[in-house]
Amino acid sequence: MKYTNEIGKRRTFAIISHPDAGKTTLTEKFLLFGGAIQTAGAVKSNKIKKHATSDFMEIERQRGISVATSVMSFEYRNVLINLLDTPGHKDFAEDTYRTLTAVDSVILVIDSVNGVEAQTRRLMEVCRMRDTPVIIFINKMDRDGKNRFDLLEEIEKELNIRLHPMTWPINSGKEFKGVYNLDDHSLVLFTANTNANDDGDVVQFNDLNDRLLDEKLGERDALQLREDVELVDGVHGKLDVSDYVSGRVAPVFFGSAINNFGVKEMLDTFIRIAPLPQCRPTSEREVCPGEDKLSGFVFKIHANLDPKHRDRIAFLRVCSGRFERNKYYHHVRLNKDVRFSNPYTFMARDKDIIEEAFPGDVVGLFDTGNFKIGDTLTEGEGFYFTGIPSFSPEIFKEVINKDPMKSKQLEKGLLQLTDEGVAQLFTQFGGNKKIIGCVGELQFEVIQYRLLHEYGASLQFNSLPFYKACWIRSKDQKKMEDFTRFKHPNIAEDKDGHLVYLAQSEWYLNTERNNNPDIEFHFTSEIHK
Ligand code: G4P
Repeated sequence: MKYTNEIGKRRTFAIISHPDAGKTTLTEKFLLFGGAIQTAGAVKSNKIKKHATSDFMEIERQRGISVATSVMSFEYRNVLINLLDTPGHKDFAEDTYRTLTAVDSVILVIDSVNGVEAQTRRLMEVCRMRDTPVIIFINKMDRDGKNRFDLLEEIEKELNIRLHPMTWPINSGKEFKGVYNLDDHSLVLFTANTNANDDGDVVQFNDLNDRLLDEKLGERDALQLREDVELVDGVHGKLDVSDYVSGRVAPVFFGSAINNFGVKEMLDTFIRIAPLPQCRPTSEREVCPGEDKLSGFVFKIHANLDPKHRDRIAFLRVCSGRFERNKYYHHVRLNKDVRFSNPYTFMARDKDIIEEAFPGDVVGLFDTGNFKIGDTLTEGEGFYFTGIPSFSPEIFKEVINKDPMKSKQLEKGLLQLTDEGVAQLFTQFGGNKKIIGCVGELQFEVIQYRLLHEYGASLQFNSLPFYKACWIRSKDQKKMEDFTRFKHPNIAEDKDGHLVYLAQSEWYLNTERNNNPDIEFHFTSEIHK
């Protein structure tokens, strides 16, 4: 196996959460530990604020800033950590889902007060599709949250994963006194605003019956902790790391990101147990990081809206071999060789031109329209990486061309924007009505603006009464033909010519499913790969 040292050093992951649970704050604390930033508050500018929801230019401006922080690489205890940022705004959720295809593990932040929220559920579903290993950070323990046992039960049930507490909290809110580390039997006492280099007030215990525990916590809380630990230890025992790596069990940490409390314990465990760059499935065979030859795939394309810098950046996740500047690689979909003279990596906020990159790394490639999401680069082989799905959009609108002289530009613009993953494009089956599907209203604004400014095409949207697009297929060709014929107003083709059923409501969808047991309905396009 080649590049063993380089691969062994790398951990590539994402922090995900429902908005406001504390993702940005936790990211910042990680960067402080990694020495990538010096002051708190440095990451904040990256965040799309709530009040900006109706102003997509502002959001794009902030997204522009976030290109630099799309991938944050830093070293911690000789481990090279690639932290992939995911947009906080729900309208860009699909960006997040695709980013999850480029990581080897995730840290999921849950707000101890709100528990499992809508976006937590959806993100976790995406992780479960790929068995991505998950560590859970229960944040905001300094606030009066839910009872910890109830909260764990809720998470297990709602997210359908077994949990393994690694630390155990002593109270919450004003009474929050700290966490007990179930693994190394230390008690970490809570102080607000712990700084990154401070180990806090840590006391090691060989025996929880030690009187020192009563001294530190008071008799009532010490007694409670002893009872809790006995119960938790009795149920969970020691973490089996292979259960975590296979995505069956999620280790859980309690803390308070804003106070930098409980973060270091998690980061230390993370670098110990989080998976190295993993083997990945392709259309032809499994590709492993230690192979000689380069392979990688594009999981994100960022277009700059600033008319002075109309560049696009394709984000390539390196999966095997070594990426080198100025070397020719095979662009599988286009069947042509391409090379990159200015590839860059992301060390915290600076963009650096690089000479080489290794599995687990993300490389930024300047693109003039050659790439679309899911494209694969190799050193000659013709495979492509699978598992980069399109998810069903939730809002559908028909495209009405307002300027017939510009139909060509409109067509080209729509194709390019949908290649970038801004939205999905469908064509009415047997007709030529174009339908755009997105997860959020904002993307329609983005599309309209960009088509006008970049392609000179003006369009209008007509809302359509659909709520989901399901990719359909059947082993029975005749049944499939009948279904598409009878339901043709609800049938469309995606860009790759796969058939989708556009459902008006859950009721319609369930009815069609019940009436057509020979037709499979899927919420992602991945089935066709
Ligand atoms: P997000 O990226 O997941 O959307 O969340 P973010 O980190 O921005 O945190 C959301 C809010 O929660 C922020 O407050 C942040 O300061 C707060 N927060 C994060 N961690 C903790 C914690 O451990 N305890 C408590 N009590 N609050 C926490 P905000 O008022 O929305 O923003 P800001 O004015 O502080 O920037």
